[in-house]
Amino acid sequence: MTLRDLIECKRDGGEIPADAWHLFTRDLAAGTLADYQVSALLMAIYFRGLTERETTALMEGMLASGQSLELRHLPVGRVDKHSTGGVGDKVSIALAPIVAACGVAVPMMSGRGLGHTGGTLDKLESIPGFQTRMPLVDATRQLERLHCALIGQSGEIAPADRILYALRDATGTVESIPLISASIMSKKMAESLTGLVLDVKTGAGSFMPKLDDALTLAHTMIALGARHSVPVVALLTNMDSPLGVACGNANEIEESVDLLKGGGPADLRELTLRTAAEMLVLGGTDATLDGALTRARGAVESGAALQRFREIVAAQGGDPRVCDDPTGVLPQPALRIPFVAACDGIVQRVEPRTVGKGITAMGGGRNTMADAIDPSVGFRITTRPGDAVRAGATLAMIEARDDASAEAGRAALAQAIVIGPGAVQPRPLISHRITTGGVELIA
Ligand code: URA
Repeated sequence: MTLRDLIECKRDGGEIPADAWHLFTRDLAAGTLADYQVSALLMAIYFRGLTERETTALMEGMLASGQSLELRHLPVGRVDKHSTGGVGDKVSIALAPIVAACGVAVPMMSGRGLGHTGGTLDKLESIPGFQTRMPLVDATRQLERLHCALIGQSGEIAPADRILYALRDATGTVESIPLISASIMSKKMAESLTGLVLDVKTGAGSFMPKLDDALTLAHTMIALGARHSVPVVALLTNMDSPLGVACGNANEIEESVDLLKGGGPADLRELTLRTAAEMLVLGGTDATLDGALTRARGAVESGAALQRFREIVAAQGGDPRVCDDPTGVLPQPALRIPFVAACDGIVQRVEPRTVGKGITAMGGGRNTMADAIDPSVGFRITTRPGDAVRAGATLAMIEARDDASAEAGRAALAQAIVIGPGAVQPRPLISHRITTGGVELIA
């Protein structure tokens, strides 16, 4: 089938055979396809969707377009986690060393922030010297030694996905459940995993604001994992407001170090430890989630998780003193300005999209992949939906590089934090747990 045949087939609601998807991804990675035709196919997929067979074939084609991280020789379980992205979502940074310190290998392959969402790689790179680009052979060595590497998708892993993702970003076709599922899983299946935990965000600040869509996304990725014999557990988690207090880049590293020292905001701690427990069960250290939770807490309390983070930072070229004196090591904002409540009332919403866009407007995020970011800027939002507040009370700190950046931050918070008269019942942080066995309501 020519690419034109594929476009017409999808346009008319047909099913493209597996071998045609494999040739498509091979040619995509070879750079021999015209962008305008691939874009037309993407738009047809966006409107028509893909069958389960097609999603699997696309995922397998993208996986086969590159290399894999070969970790089967490690004597421990190998488990990664993926979040569909949000604001203040810094879970991976403390999670990876906690799980590694408990005896499960974590080949953590993360992404960069785009639009309103932050990216783990950008946050990590706010640690002076920290390198997230690493050849697969070096990542393997680090995983053998420390059971953890915190890296980005290199050109070696699923190159067809990189090309397709850039075109999706430029053509308004990112928000397609089969395309997201095939994209994420093509990279995860290249990590020789024995298990995967998905944090599927739902709510105002997520890619999938509707619960039904988030459930479908989770089921689709779980099915893709099952076809490759990788057990996948998905947690549906609330992104109606930012996670934790710090939102930005360097300040999120500081909050992650706090968590590794046994502190940090309660919501961040709960989600990180719960996710760690799921990973430990999948990695084979514990038979029950309760036992795994105790083990994960123990790794924080004993200092083993912080020590592992220190070793990972040093191994990846970063300044390990970030674990002892984060503010002395991380880039600091020129200005810190309190943001106060304009009236008495109850906090109705802390709108994550507006917060995320505010960080970008302040210089801490990017609109296109080519943009540089200022890691020092962001917010520390201490109020939560449901809080009763008085006029003049401090709700957040704006961390800015200059007056214009501070004003952009203030304008964003004025829009994001809504105060009203009515009581508010926030949704639970973790609402559903999904496996091939079904959907469990957590709260
Ligand atoms: N992250 C990915 O890697 N791919 C997507 O399509 C969306 C989020």
